[in-house]
Amino acid sequence: MARQIKDFTDEEMLDEATRILTNGFTLHHKQNMTRQELVDYCRRIGNTDDDKLGYMPFNPKDTPDITLVTPGPNGLFGHSDLHWHSNGTVYHIGEFKEILIALYCEDECVDTVFSLLNNRDAFLDLSKEDQDYWRTIEVQLNNIHHGIYGEVQPKDDNSLDEYVQMEPHKGDDRMPVVNTHPVDGQEFLYWQPPLIEKAWKDGKPTDVEEIKEKLKATLDRSIYQHHIVFKKGDMLIMDQLYTLHRRSPVINKNRLLWRVAIDYTNTLDK
Ligand SMILES: [Fe+2]
Repeated sequence: MARQIKDFTDEEMLDEATRILTNGFTLHHKQNMTRQELVDYCRRIGNTDDDKLGYMPFNPKDTPDITLVTPGPNGLFGHSDLHWHSNGTVYHIGEFKEILIALYCEDECVDTVFSLLNNRDAFLDLSKEDQDYWRTIEVQLNNIHHGIYGEVQPKDDNSLDEYVQMEPHKGDDRMPVVNTHPVDGQEFLYWQPPLIEKAWKDGKPTDVEEIKEKLKATLDRSIYQHHIVFKKGDMLIMDQLYTLHRRSPVINKNRLLWRVAIDYTNTLDK
């Protein structure tokens, strides 16, 4: 039987958090967890109180720190493909604190591919000249077009209504694309491709389409990607500043992931 992460010692827990930060994610297979065991495990890494998605209809009452990610009427995100994004989506850095997301697979869809992209490594591998170029760029993020969805969502899917009801960023409200991770201080290039509405270079407005194309050419490269087909019992934890993710459409409508938003405050960020 595979080593069960719910039995980790404190030392193994610290090692787990370190590996998430170092590699951008960890993936464990053949785990056997109840919803409460998942929450308990995540709480050993950090705070699991999700201030963006907590206490919504698709959070079970007995474990409100878990969000059900499933195409059904009581789940988040529907069935269509999702474009590259990370948790935070329309929020600028500093406006959210959940910099880790855990996904535990309770029911699988073997036709759905979940992809990860390490945007920190992509930035650190750039020449100093290219890194300096990106330090001159700022962007404004908003929920435009279909947001992170690849297609228009059916009218009866209101699963994200409350989630996206944030005040849009207006005027010259913006954030740098090069940011520093609050826990280990490494720089990374932040990219939410479906949500970039405006761009600035050296503090002056610039062509947003050109910036979007350059970001895609820099970041959307197979060398920085991992592709996962979740099977029951798989457990992924990913750093939302160092990685982003996307998903192909869900075919098996019973697919169910348990999602927990966390930070590092009980391990690396005490
Ligand atoms: Fe996501």
